[in-house]
Amino acid sequence: MNGPLPVLEDHSLAKHEVLRAYLVNYLRILAQSPHSEGVRVTLVDGFAGGGQYRLPTGSVVGGSPLILLDALKEARALVSLDRQQRNIRKPYTIQAHIHLVEKHRATAAHLQRVIDDTPEAHVPNTTVQIHGGSFDAALPHILKDVRTRQKKSGRSVFILDQYGWSQVNLEKVSTIFSELPSAEVFLTWMIDSLVNFLSKDMLEKLNPALARSGLGDALDAEKLLAIKAADSAEGDLTWRRAIQSLMTEQIRRVSGATYCTPFYIIPRQSRRGYWLLHLAQHLRANEEMKRIHWDNNNLHHPGGAGFNMLGFVGTNGQLAFDNRFDAYAEQVTLDALREDIPKRVAQLRTPLRFGDLVQQTANETPARLKQLQEAVFALEKERNLIVRTKAGALRRNAHSLADDDVIELPTQMWLIPN
Ligand SMILES: C[S@@+](CC[C@H](N)C(=O)[O-])C[C@H]1O[C@@H](n2cnc3c(N)ncnc32)[C@H](O)[C@@H]1O
Repeated sequence: MNGPLPVLEDHSLAKHEVLRAYLVNYLRILAQSPHSEGVRVTLVDGFAGGGQYRLPTGSVVGGSPLILLDALKEARALVSLDRQQRNIRKPYTIQAHIHLVEKHRATAAHLQRVIDDTPEAHVPNTTVQIHGGSFDAALPHILKDVRTRQKKSGRSVFILDQYGWSQVNLEKVSTIFSELPSAEVFLTWMIDSLVNFLSKDMLEKLNPALARSGLGDALDAEKLLAIKAADSAEGDLTWRRAIQSLMTEQIRRVSGATYCTPFYIIPRQSRRGYWLLHLAQHLRANEEMKRIHWDNNNLHHPGGAGFNMLGFVGTNGQLAFDNRFDAYAEQVTLDALREDIPKRVAQLRTPLRFGDLVQQTANETPARLKQLQEAVFALEKERNLIVRTKAGALRRNAHSLADDDVIELPTQMWLIPN
């Protein structure tokens, strides 16, 4: 990277904040067991950039590689404090291996200088390795390294912060999940640049880009254009959301992820939004990601509030609500869940474990576990749902609702139309 540092825009700051918060929380959760003496973890920044930016005010701030190192430092401090407070004497070590990949040669050289000058990169139990070249070329070495050092778990977080949407091939993401089942992946995806440029003139460019992204077998530009043409009469938002919802499902399917949160970073300066997708194989990871979203109002999600997260038209025929993860969104979410949960139980025509309801709806709702518990508890209080603990007792508060609790409809409620 030659010349002045690039300017860090608002939306990248918001993205860094989410990454930092998620990673600190992730590392703290790993350290919860009082018997554990430590953990090995790998963080991969597959599109690392040069490691430094300047703000419009002129001051210099770190890029994502430094965010990873900061999160590691903060997590180590918080874990040590937490263990002191819980009187746990056993020392705890987070052994972190960080892989940074940057294709552009001058940018990689700048990143190397930044890392050389960053004290957090040279503390004990931290190894930073820079790969000049493409992410695809570095991936086999990274996977081999993780499997060698972390034979059991392969615990790792991959950050794939591409420009646009066709630099990451989703089949590579699927390789990550099949080789490292505990891996989690953050993927940025400029969905609005795809949607904004959708026109007949762009067909020749879009189809090769869809093929590069790994979506070529599932989607083609003609199909996307047909959705735009069919729904244009309904207004701009309708076809945009139809395409977004289709893309989310295909991204999750091709990447081999079990769970996906398709939420937006809000860029204040521009109308072009982008997704910060979190892809994972475990429900707990999905829940933690949703928690970070609800705690951080820099993000939003246009889509249904209940079990219609990917839907673009609400059940009332209006355009679905724009979730800003704020107090108002909490209320709308709770109301929507109170309508949707009995309908779901009625559709299934069988009593349902609460844990199964949470798992089955994880990709359909932005709601966190706490909100699902509150909705089920409220429905029980209103006598619109029966909740039985394993021992047959009544639940006295929402947050003690357990996975093994069984929920069912009072008999007359089976008559609700599906
Ligand atoms: C959006 S920027 C990364 C910003 C960085 N993650 C941050 O938040 O500070 C994308 C970077 O990926 C690099 N890049 C582009 N294609 C790549 C590839 N195939 N493999 C690795 N890096 C690539 C670009 O040179 C650019 O520096």
